[in-house]
Amino acid sequence: MVAALKVEEQILPPALEHVPKHIAIIMDGNGRWAKARGLPRAEGHRQGTENLRRIIRACVEFGVEVLTIYAFSTENWRRPPLEVRLLMTILQTVIQRELQELSDNGVQIRHIGQLDRIAPSLQKEILHACDYTKDNHRLILNVAFNYGGRDEIVHAVQQIVKDGIPADQINEDLINHYMYTGDLPDPDLVIRTSGELRLSNFLIWQAAYSEYYFTDTYWPDFDKAELRKAIEEYARRTRRFGKTDEQVQDEEE
Ligand code: FPP
Repeated sequence: MVAALKVEEQILPPALEHVPKHIAIIMDGNGRWAKARGLPRAEGHRQGTENLRRIIRACVEFGVEVLTIYAFSTENWRRPPLEVRLLMTILQTVIQRELQELSDNGVQIRHIGQLDRIAPSLQKEILHACDYTKDNHRLILNVAFNYGGRDEIVHAVQQIVKDGIPADQINEDLINHYMYTGDLPDPDLVIRTSGELRLSNFLIWQAAYSEYYFTDTYWPDFDKAELRKAIEEYARRTRRFGKTDEQVQDEEE
């Protein structure tokens, strides 16, 4: 028994240190994952969705407080109508199938982006999921759906003008407050899978000081071990926020 425990101790990876509070992920490469296997793109999205479940669970386990996922961008409307419909259906299915389990695990679902172009029935599901989980506090899951960073800034400026805020009261804190992520910390770590080295209009205001992690792994294969690797690399980086190395060291001591 003791020997068995010892083996287990050796197998368990060490506890993670410096876990980012907020991780944002561009889940890219579902299509290429499928193509590489001679499968339809839809299968790539299906596997990508399965992987999302694993990653949400891993984030809860690692103690991540906020996870923001880029599920559908304002640019994704340019995809073939069938694929757009599929992505809408996936969100609807995920909500219907996973809501209870997510809620039981303390996940609070939030939506960021515009609801207006989304079918009323899906809008209703999204709002229900957000309302149903609003008192959960283990992990905030921001689902960026019909989301674009520039669109978010335009929306914020429109609201600021509508609220009659005088120019001399507009500062970074105020703009932050008008973003969809209003009360949340900025992402510490932005991950993009599949080898693309772009932000693609994702959280362009909030990610000004984020650390970036790019991997060639396609999203369906970006598992818990890969997430751990990303967090370990993040933990090795020094975040200076414009200061010198010496200043950061002094603050840490
Ligand atoms: C990118 O792969 C992925 C997306 C456009 C989003 C799809 C995300 C999922 C299926 C995960 C869960 C989704 C929801 C709605 C909760 P791609 O199609 O751009 O891949 P490619 O660049 O290889 O073609």
